[in-house]
Amino acid sequence: MGLFLFFVLSKNIYADSSQLSIHINPNHVLARLSPHMYGIFFEDINFAGDGGLYAEMVRNRSFEDIRPPEGCRIEGNWAITPGNFKWYIGVDDSIPFWKLNITGNAKAYAKLDTVLPLNHAQYYSLKINIEKCNNAQVSLINDGYYGMAVEKEKNYLFSFYARSNDKYDGKIKVSLIDENGKTYASQYINGIEQNWKKFSTTLIAADTHSKLKLHITFTRAGTLWLDMVSLFPEDTWKKRQNGWRNDLMQMLVQLNPKFLRFPGGCVVEGITFDNAIQWKETIGDIAERPGHVNVWGYRSTDGIGFHEFLQMAEDLHAEPLFVVNVGMTCQARNSYSMPIDQLKPMIDDVLDAIEYANGPVNSYWGALRAKNGHPEPFHLKFIEVGNENWGEEYDIRYEMFYDAIKSRYPEIIIIRSAHPTADKNPLYFPNNKGDILDLHYYRSPDWIFKNHKIFDDYPRIGKQIYIGEYACNEKVGRGNLYAALADATFLIAFERNADIITMASYAPLFENDDKDGYKWPVNLIHFNNHKVYAMPTYYAQQMFSNHKGDVVVASELISDSVTIPIHYNLSGGAIGFDTYSTHSAFDDILVVSNNDTLLYETFDNPITKFPLIAENGNWKIENGELHQTDATIFAHAYMGDTAWKNYTLTFRAKKISGMEGFFMTLYRKDDNNWLRWNIGGWNNTQHALELRSNGSNSFITPMIQGSVRTNEWYRVKIKVEDLHIQCYLNDTLIHNVYLPTHNNYQRLYSVVTRDTIKNELIIKIVNPFPYSASINININDSIKISNSGKEIILTSKNPDDTNSFDNPELVYPRTSPINGLSNHFKYLLKPNSLTFLILKMN
Ligand code: AHR
Repeated sequence: MGLFLFFVLSKNIYADSSQLSIHINPNHVLARLSPHMYGIFFEDINFAGDGGLYAEMVRNRSFEDIRPPEGCRIEGNWAITPGNFKWYIGVDDSIPFWKLNITGNAKAYAKLDTVLPLNHAQYYSLKINIEKCNNAQVSLINDGYYGMAVEKEKNYLFSFYARSNDKYDGKIKVSLIDENGKTYASQYINGIEQNWKKFSTTLIAADTHSKLKLHITFTRAGTLWLDMVSLFPEDTWKKRQNGWRNDLMQMLVQLNPKFLRFPGGCVVEGITFDNAIQWKETIGDIAERPGHVNVWGYRSTDGIGFHEFLQMAEDLHAEPLFVVNVGMTCQARNSYSMPIDQLKPMIDDVLDAIEYANGPVNSYWGALRAKNGHPEPFHLKFIEVGNENWGEEYDIRYEMFYDAIKSRYPEIIIIRSAHPTADKNPLYFPNNKGDILDLHYYRSPDWIFKNHKIFDDYPRIGKQIYIGEYACNEKVGRGNLYAALADATFLIAFERNADIITMASYAPLFENDDKDGYKWPVNLIHFNNHKVYAMPTYYAQQMFSNHKGDVVVASELISDSVTIPIHYNLSGGAIGFDTYSTHSAFDDILVVSNNDTLLYETFDNPITKFPLIAENGNWKIENGELHQTDATIFAHAYMGDTAWKNYTLTFRAKKISGMEGFFMTLYRKDDNNWLRWNIGGWNNTQHALELRSNGSNSFITPMIQGSVRTNEWYRVKIKVEDLHIQCYLNDTLIHNVYLPTHNNYQRLYSVVTRDTIKNELIIKIVNPFPYSASINININDSIKISNSGKEIILTSKNPDDTNSFDNPELVYPRTSPINGLSNHFKYLLKPNSLTFLILKMN
């Protein structure tokens, strides 16, 4: 490493970067880049599917949203598994997203009904009883996904299934109406009889509007039942029925993905096996798909099902990559492993899925594929066995799935999953079974810049790595240019290690920006019901996938380093107690600084000088112990003096019931500034020390595996001396951290690839710092560089800049020609930039 510079980020200080250079030998090929290096990962999170790509406009179309998550019971806002794992659901309306509007002296009611359902998949239908309607109206109104959006003169295909107790002789009006009562489209339906029948009509929008509601209006008395009330734009992707939004599909096309990983993620694992995705329930007529409550807390119609995912991959010219449940529910939430002797049906399901995708039309499942409109095979090549699974239970099950798949379909490439938070999972395959390991990284920019060499020393054992989920998603708000530069640095690291990293996909892919779409901090493509924009990192990825090249060539980057002082908000503070979905107790709290006792609280006779302030939770003193008894929430209480500093905190704590252990907060200045030791976090599997500084959280120690036992007192000691923090559990030192005073980063990050067909050399460089950098580019004279080429630059004024509906291209790659090139030239990299130099080779 060259020159060592010490400076504080300031626009007045310009660092001399004359030492920067890159030496490239285009004829020295280091590795071939995989043809399917860049792909996408689709999961229905943040309303990516329903309320997103899936173009259905009616929300809760089959009236099933009230059903509890499969395999769970409901208590208040919580879904509870048989093993008492609680997860938040929060459905409190009896017919979610529907309203009954009655005008004049009409008399009517609507309620969910289970008598004579439409079919086996539909538990409820909606019963509407209109007792009288004299010159008045009874309307059922659906809100859609935050309103329904239509475009002037376009067609919208409406349908529902209906029956009545007797022939219903009234006409039913179906219309789209705005908040002022103005109608944008309407049609009539009649002829409803005693048996279930599907009725359809086309609504033509008189004008463009994005906040309409669907009204189904009755003007005669009668009793009717409705189900599968649906409204789709006619103009979907490839004009398919049950189709996908064109604008969102276009965003995927423009990413140029070479594979599509589906259908998740955590949704594959489920909180219980019953609410994990089961592909057989997601094919065929949409009226016969039961849907399920996904782990992200909302009901999925499964309108985008197994067949549609395969079709989507085909449309995108991407390889389908199907993720299957390995007989384990979500290990990070409600870990449960299916007994080995009950695994066979799950394994058979996977074999059937492969037959559905690839089998001949005279096979059972191949015939069903043909019946569903696709006689040609889909050429499914990749199966991922499990998602974010690890450990012994996983290994046993993984091998069983592996053996069964390989013995029937030896050509299928099997991907194995790994622990989601480990920095460096071993490249391990039980009994050498498997081809590719899927690693996930959701990290901060600091972590990525510091760990950009993490793959350089992974063992080369003939196995491959798939970075199945990655995103710079800490300390970057909801995503910005700086995150994109960190992500680009990670992509550079992937390409530099293209001999082992053969696939990568960012996650999550989509977020509905309307009110309750957000389930994850940073997401790639944002939309509402009629508009879309992408995060800066989308454009970084597009640059990489459009200009990948086919080989990586030798290049040496001579870059100095940059040192940035770290400012911690650690000037002292009070202490606090926390629990997450757990009932815990605390006792004998002692705070000592320089031999002075600042606090000693046994809760026998609570001291009044430093009363306990409960922010939330159910805190009470019982038998001289402090208890937090609400095992459904994240509870916090605190006490003491914000001026306390350099102290040792000791106490006893005990978990009584619930999911996790307990936490202790120190140096609490306010809600946004504290230090916290989480003992038995992550479902009682890890301990970690976390710092919140000005509202931004970061882990300051790696997570250490560990748990606490229920009903057992633990002695806890945390000592803070300036930037030295020691944490003891039952006198064993668990964390011993000296917080660093400076961060030291390499200044530039680069990789060079070559496109042998286009005869191009592609130099990819990230300059994440807020000043320009002049770099000498030296290309070995064995080839000749043409005089003209082009540059593609992703940058903006400020690293915090991001895109939005109002300014969707604030951070957008700009392409310009460059002339006067040769084998040796100087180039000025813009501040905060990702630059691709595309040079023609003669
Ligand atoms: O991408 C969001 C989630 O992150 C995925 O479901 C899961 O695999 C990971 O934990």
